[in-house]
Amino acid sequence: MFTEKSLNVLVVGSGGREHALVRSCAASPLVRSVIAAPGNGGMDQDCDCALIPADDIGGLVNLAVEKKIDFVIVGPEVPLSLGLVDALKEKQILAFGPEADGARLEASKIACKQLLLKYRIPTGASAVFDSLAPALSYLETSSYPIVIKADGLAAGKGVIIAEDHEAATATVRSMLEDRAFGDSGERILVEECLVGEETSIHVIISGRDYVILPTSQDHKRIGEGDTGPNTGGMGAYSPAGLVDDALMQKIRETIVVPSVEAIASEGIAFRGVLFIGIMVTSDGPKVLEYNVRFGDPETQVLLPRLKTDPVALMLAAATGRLAGFNLEVRPEHALCVVLASRGYPGSYPKGETVTLPTAIPDYGQLFHAGTKAGPDRSILTNGGRIFGVTALGQTLPEAADRAYRLCDQVLFDSKVLRRDIGARQLRRGTSE
Ligand code: AMP
Ligand code: GLY
Repeated sequence: MFTEKSLNVLVVGSGGREHALVRSCAASPLVRSVIAAPGNGGMDQDCDCALIPADDIGGLVNLAVEKKIDFVIVGPEVPLSLGLVDALKEKQILAFGPEADGARLEASKIACKQLLLKYRIPTGASAVFDSLAPALSYLETSSYPIVIKADGLAAGKGVIIAEDHEAATATVRSMLEDRAFGDSGERILVEECLVGEETSIHVIISGRDYVILPTSQDHKRIGEGDTGPNTGGMGAYSPAGLVDDALMQKIRETIVVPSVEAIASEGIAFRGVLFIGIMVTSDGPKVLEYNVRFGDPETQVLLPRLKTDPVALMLAAATGRLAGFNLEVRPEHALCVVLASRGYPGSYPKGETVTLPTAIPDYGQLFHAGTKAGPDRSILTNGGRIFGVTALGQTLPEAADRAYRLCDQVLFDSKVLRRDIGARQLRRGTSE
């Protein structure tokens, strides 16, 4: 159906994840042209960018029609939950990403939990509240720490781990009484705090067919040694040594297969990627959450490890041709370090000039996130996370070494980074 250089592709989003997707499109033999919306300073150098925000559904659909787009790859969750894929379908435009019914699995943590419970997929015990008094009385008899989640999308900020009763009470009041998260916190989920190590499992799904991507691990906290507030992710590596063959088998049997079946049984025609956040506890792997899109920065280590053309994979999912798809993965390790602006995930400066490396070696990739084009082809900072610096290596230490050497060549005044990406696995010594 799609031949060499036949596809005009639109990538929706403006982060490091989307820059990695644009690079995969540019390298794909199937692709004729790529447009990003709204894009960033790096994508601006690699393809055309249309300054349409990722939540402007009407604007994106018009762009796709006007530019004769054959295939839309949706990066972030917001346009998915606003029904971008549904709207594209009405215009017979093919897209990678679920329609709004599938996106609800990320847009409502309560909907996600209900599905997990209904299909007996392992997850933490929890309770749902929409009014203060019952929530407060539940906290009287809870054990601590406990996790409190705003039901709706909250840009990664709606999950609070409360260390004690006092902190939990304050959080519940801020969500239900003071509406700190607006309508997203109209209902809350109070969840058992799971203890263990996390891993990210990405599953490409097309109805009842699925392909599991390589494992990866993110580093969510801002500070080294996993300290400070949660961020979108400060670095990632793949494969995750924590997930050996036996654990992968267990994750596949108890989580992946039941999740794919559950979603299909609910009548959701899911064609996209389900990114399952998993906590590996002493009682086995348990689901923390579903996301209905690629992780960021996980994508920046996953795509460089694929021998298979990622566009062919996403197209197979979008067109219902995923059964029997043969995914080939490179044996190398990949590690990505995020360079952020000081102050992130709180407020941070913008508009600083960036000095870039003079050359990027074959093993490396510099993915732009919060950047924009400045005068005379300069690059300016324009966000919290500025770059994802990825390197491949025969071993994890080699990938880490190479990534950090590249990081040192990217300069801007408020640059901050974690120097311990991959450290836990390097200590464990299972990388070689
Ligand atoms: P979520 O958006 O639900 O993935 O939550 C963001 C982060 O909060 C996760 O990646 C975990 O680090 C943490 N988290 C969420 N739920 C739990 C839980 N039940 N127990 C422990 N940590 C959790
Ligand atoms: N890195 C975690 C996420 O994309 O949600």
